[in-house]
Amino acid sequence: MHAQVFRTWPIAVRIAIFIAMLSPSWAQSGSTSKAGRPWMNPTLSPDERATMVVSKMTLDEKITLLHGTGLSGLGPVSPLAVGSNGGAGYVVGIPRLGIPAIQMSDAAYGVRSSGENGRYSTALPSDIASAASWDLGAAYEYGALIGRELRAQGYNMSLGGGVNLTREARDGRTFEYLGEDPILAGKIVGAVMKGLQAQHVIGDIKHYALNDQESGRNAVNVNIDRRSARESDLLAFEIGLRESNACAVMCSYNRVNGDYACENKYLLTDVLKKDWNFKGFVISDWAATHSAAKASVAGLDHEEPGEIFYGEPMKKAVQAGKVPMSELDDHVHRILRSMFACGVIDDLPQKGVVDVERGFEVAQKIAEQSIVLLQDEQAQLPLHASQLHTIAVIGAHSDVGMISGAGSAQVDPPGGNVIMPPGKGQTHWQDQIWFPTSPLKAIRAKAPGAAVQYDPGTDLSRAAALAKNADVAIVFAYQWESEDMDLENLSLPGNQDALIAKVAEVNRHTVVVLETGGAVTMPWADQVSAIVEAWYPGVRGAEALANVLFGDVNPSAKLPITFPRSDADLPHPHLVRPPRESTTHGEPDEWKKIAAGLPAFQITYDEGLKVGYKWYDAERKPVLFPFGYGLSYTSYSYSNLRVTPGNTVTVCFTVTNTGSRAGAEVAEVYASLPASANEPPKRLVGWSTVKLNPGEGKDVTVEVEKKYLSIFNVDQNGWQLIPGEYTFSVGSSSQNLPLKETVNLK
Ligand code: BGC
Repeated sequence: MHAQVFRTWPIAVRIAIFIAMLSPSWAQSGSTSKAGRPWMNPTLSPDERATMVVSKMTLDEKITLLHGTGLSGLGPVSPLAVGSNGGAGYVVGIPRLGIPAIQMSDAAYGVRSSGENGRYSTALPSDIASAASWDLGAAYEYGALIGRELRAQGYNMSLGGGVNLTREARDGRTFEYLGEDPILAGKIVGAVMKGLQAQHVIGDIKHYALNDQESGRNAVNVNIDRRSARESDLLAFEIGLRESNACAVMCSYNRVNGDYACENKYLLTDVLKKDWNFKGFVISDWAATHSAAKASVAGLDHEEPGEIFYGEPMKKAVQAGKVPMSELDDHVHRILRSMFACGVIDDLPQKGVVDVERGFEVAQKIAEQSIVLLQDEQAQLPLHASQLHTIAVIGAHSDVGMISGAGSAQVDPPGGNVIMPPGKGQTHWQDQIWFPTSPLKAIRAKAPGAAVQYDPGTDLSRAAALAKNADVAIVFAYQWESEDMDLENLSLPGNQDALIAKVAEVNRHTVVVLETGGAVTMPWADQVSAIVEAWYPGVRGAEALANVLFGDVNPSAKLPITFPRSDADLPHPHLVRPPRESTTHGEPDEWKKIAAGLPAFQITYDEGLKVGYKWYDAERKPVLFPFGYGLSYTSYSYSNLRVTPGNTVTVCFTVTNTGSRAGAEVAEVYASLPASANEPPKRLVGWSTVKLNPGEGKDVTVEVEKKYLSIFNVDQNGWQLIPGEYTFSVGSSSQNLPLKETVNLK
């Protein structure tokens, strides 16, 4: 089940809408005239303003704000949907009170469906790539760009902000999320949301919570103990919200410990609204609402995309006293408050031209900061153009483009999908979309004196023949991901493993460039000289990649996820697939069955706290490339660690550039808790990026807040610092931590 942005209306409905549009109240839609509307005074607090508006609203007006207007394939579509700007969600405004409509668009790595709407938007590198930068400034820019482009296209709410942890490495949305560590992911999503909301767009963090696989997402019941949930997946949301005050949280499709996430009182009320003091509104994922009264009391404020439960049934429930008016008012208050707080009432979006050139610049810069150098035997990279006569470029359509991630995150490529017939400007659900950023061209531009030849890699012998006589062979490999599906396994699909092995057999100078949404296995890793993880690098991916390959950019990114040696090493070696009765794919009126609730099937996250590197550490499983790992063209040394306890724990150390190039090092700080805490061996507690010229050394200070050193005590429903010995380790990756110091904390 998925949301397609496609609406059709019978002609009679269109005529009725046209007549309605001529009426004065329609014409005023979105008007924020101040006359007789004291809540239009921006010096009042968002809460004061919202309270005033709620007091003036009729029951019907309140209900209007609680739901969207429908989407084909996910239930009935209201005639009022005609006012939609073309995004996934549209909430009719209250013109009488000067409350504009909410125009929502998916915007994970750029604004979705712009091609379909005759517009253009920048495709940034995928979200996981932004996490690989470990750079909060870059993440802020990422969000700010998306915010600007949403507004230029007439939207005032984003549906981006995916922060589900990589518990299940085969999750088809890994590219849309921010990796396996809650502090890194939470800080990055917080910075993205800050940048976005600064443009006066409502930000949304999703999918709350534990929607960590796509298979059977509308039915699955995730079993997890509370402590593990609070210290892992939920912590990422908690940090993201604290850092950004994001105005909305999207509850997810799945069940958690028995209840659907969108009617889960523990998640929505006890944790989100009470413990975290969240003031914004909870919006359901598309067709993730399953009730009116139960969802309402649990804390769901708004149903999308339609009004199956939060329209007429909600009105009746209020009239019958099953949903108290105070509860309804709280939902409405939260939505209005968020609209005021995010500035979408005071500052309406103005449609305009997207700043294409600036978009290219930001996309390229972030791609350059997010490409991870995984292996570089005998300084194979950077390439020296003047020493190369022949370069073989092989595989993955690298003559024309680079792959992108699909589903509701999909951004339309400029000019259409480069491997489809020309003129197809639109993208479709689960199409493989290749962006028009050609590695072949970018490499040719870097090495004008060399013969740079391409082979598609479909015939292994032909590819090997080209590689054999080349000074260097660059093999491109990809693993495509999409919402609403998971990967079968972590192997590169098709013949790509065989292709790489074959090329490596004939050329000692083989560089592999990966375009993947997450981890892949690499049975050929020992046979190739260099490996570069480019992720889905966005619209300027090839230019960014060429800058890294040829050394114009010194790579500094670090992995936000572990690359395991094999699927067998994962906490769950096999993906849990739904039984037939828990899926609806392709059935008529599937939304009805989903709304009614599909039979649950179980996933038990019994690895608990041991997510990502914490699992491999605790289980002592060797990995292919560890969390936090990434090479540079220079080298760094670490020295002089001093750890000082206080309100925060101050971790000081020195990083020195011991090589011959300028570079930026992400210096990582991990903590091991006292044995009595019963935690995995270590956790990331902070980091700092330090820019260094050759030979230069700098002192670095990382302040670690106590919460990041605490455990979640379920009985006390709070964070608790366990008194005892804490070891702080510092270095360049989760497995290269040369500095260690133990201190006593109370
Ligand atoms: C996805 C959400 C998305 C929504 C609207 C759902 O299928 O899970 O992430 O925001 O559709 O397109």
